[in-house]
Amino acid sequence: MRCVHVKTDSASYDVKIGAGLLDTIGRELRVCTDAKTVVVVSGENVFPIYGERVLNSLRSAGFRAEAKVFPSGEETKSLASYGELLNLLTECRLTRSDCLVALGGGVTGDLTGFAAATYQRGIRYVQVPTTLLAAVDSSVGGKTAVNLPAAKNQVGAFHQPSLVLCDTGTLDTLPERELNAGFAEVIKDSVIADPDLFDLLQQGNFDRESIIEACVNMKADIVAEDEHDFGRRRLLNLGHTFGHAIEARSRYELLHGEAVAIGTAMIVRAAVRMGILDTGSRDAVIELLKQFRLPVEPPYSADELFDILLLDKKIASGRLHLIVPRSVGWCEAIPVDREALRRWLEAAYE
Ligand code: NAD
Ligand code: GLY
Repeated sequence: MRCVHVKTDSASYDVKIGAGLLDTIGRELRVCTDAKTVVVVSGENVFPIYGERVLNSLRSAGFRAEAKVFPSGEETKSLASYGELLNLLTECRLTRSDCLVALGGGVTGDLTGFAAATYQRGIRYVQVPTTLLAAVDSSVGGKTAVNLPAAKNQVGAFHQPSLVLCDTGTLDTLPERELNAGFAEVIKDSVIADPDLFDLLQQGNFDRESIIEACVNMKADIVAEDEHDFGRRRLLNLGHTFGHAIEARSRYELLHGEAVAIGTAMIVRAAVRMGILDTGSRDAVIELLKQFRLPVEPPYSADELFDILLLDKKIASGRLHLIVPRSVGWCEAIPVDREALRRWLEAAYE
């Protein structure tokens, strides 16, 4: 079992990584909360496989444990699901000392975290990520949100979990397409700050625990310095500015990680055209994405994407920071206004 400690201005918690950790959740929760009732929030693909183990472990440790299962998919990250969940918490008479458990991928984690951030002005929650993307990214760092029809993650809060329990055994049942989408975030992390991880991925010689530990270590380091995303945390958005526009344009037909892969390929191409990155690094990043069967070509024109980019709340208020690699393991946040963003976008097409 690996353990990474995360310490931010508002919280301090462990991320435990290893096979079989689901069965320890009751015992773990006894240590980090004084809850009496725990509500496990999950998705319809995940709960039938792992729900009973989690409920049994919680009940064996003396908790009253209830479950709420949502349909799978991005549509669940909505105000409607959020309201439904809050009403259930009230029906279960959850108090401020009780706790939620998010058992699932990033959709479950973001929704549960936002409910925990706001129910009775904030209660504890535990992240139990069951996708690679959630293990390496969304379960750590406290960003929680739901979507509005017009845009992703428009309503949310920073609210750190009390514990992240990452049972790597759950990745065995994850469909291959979802697993590869998670690798898009792992590759992203390696390009941002970890050339050793990049080499490991290229060689294909790694185990899940070490990959997840490397990414969580990097994220812990970044959120310790910049919990609220005003500085270094922006680097984690590599590939996301173009990626989010592509994801939205596809109406979520493309997975988040797939859109990030295309966004990453676009930004390395643009960085070469702007004279910031060498062609060897560009080709290595694109090859690595392809190695994990990730898409690398933008399926939409620059004109189509630019209209969506203009909806970005950051550019709408004047400028946004585009994350651009200078080499593998070294990225920079470049402030761009609307005109510069258009130039960068056009440079991303070869
Ligand atoms: P997801 O939560 O939709 O899960 C992917 C699919 O896999 C779903 O159908 C789910 O039911 C299924 N699944 C999950 N675990 C499984 C398992 N072990 N076995 C079988 N099936 C399983 O997708 P995701 O990629 O985990 O998360 C994407 C979401 O995360 C997006 O909404 C994105 O915005 C968000 N996100 C948040 C952050 C953050 O910092 N909060 C960071 C990155 C992404
Ligand atoms: N996933 C980006 C962040 O946590 O900041």
